[in-house]
Amino acid sequence: MNQKKLVFANWKMNLNSDEATSLVKNILKKLESINKVDIVLSPSFPYLAAINSLLYNTKISLSSQNVFWEKDGPYTGEVSSDMLLDVGCSWTMIGHSERRQHLLETNEMINKKVLTSVSKGLKVILCVGESFDQRRQGKTFESIADQLQRGLRKVDESFVEQIVIGYEPIWVIGSGEAASVNDISSVHNFIFNELKIMFPNGKLLPRIVYGGSVNSLNIEDIITLDNVDGVLVGNASMDCDKFCDIVMKV
Ligand code: 13P
Repeated sequence: MNQKKLVFANWKMNLNSDEATSLVKNILKKLESINKVDIVLSPSFPYLAAINSLLYNTKISLSSQNVFWEKDGPYTGEVSSDMLLDVGCSWTMIGHSERRQHLLETNEMINKKVLTSVSKGLKVILCVGESFDQRRQGKTFESIADQLQRGLRKVDESFVEQIVIGYEPIWVIGSGEAASVNDISSVHNFIFNELKIMFPNGKLLPRIVYGGSVNSLNIEDIITLDNVDGVLVGNASMDCDKFCDIVMKV
């Protein structure tokens, strides 16, 4: 397994063309010599090709924030795995809680996206996370297990290396305060054990990254936990200094 930690920047529906390109140029300047971390940037669809040309010959990878499960056809507004590969993406994010909430994505839709993407050769970051209510009702593990089992249904063990699980507790996303290290630790250990049950014959398991108000002050406490293979950064990834600080502390 690739043992490098993963730092994933999710810019969501933010940054225009000038802002995104200048952020990438500044990140490249600051992180030129960083070798020990896998960095993945995830701009909005319209800027993927432009950002890809800036990333050419660098060690930083490109991800989309979404993908559709069909190969091609009458699916207005959707983007296929092949199109993403064509513009230079090696990754796609699937099942972010904001898409589950605002676009009503179900685990069944998410599963179809995962199956198509991995079979086409894309690496996938599959996001799972519990809501505040689920947590309050003591249903965190039940909810995470359900999202994992239905999201990864029928995924062949041979694709495991292409998959990363992003654990993002919905109640801390964008709040400025990450979940406690105890909470992160117990859910990551739970996910690790679920994955072991789901992929019993694999030598490898998907890596597991944490997302939700990661910043340069909490990164060191989070990244040193067992079964935390990296982080998924929203707000702090849109500020060059803050993002590079996080990467350097990983
Ligand atoms: P924040 O880091 O802004 O909480 O966002 C996390 C996230 O949703 C990354 O996908």
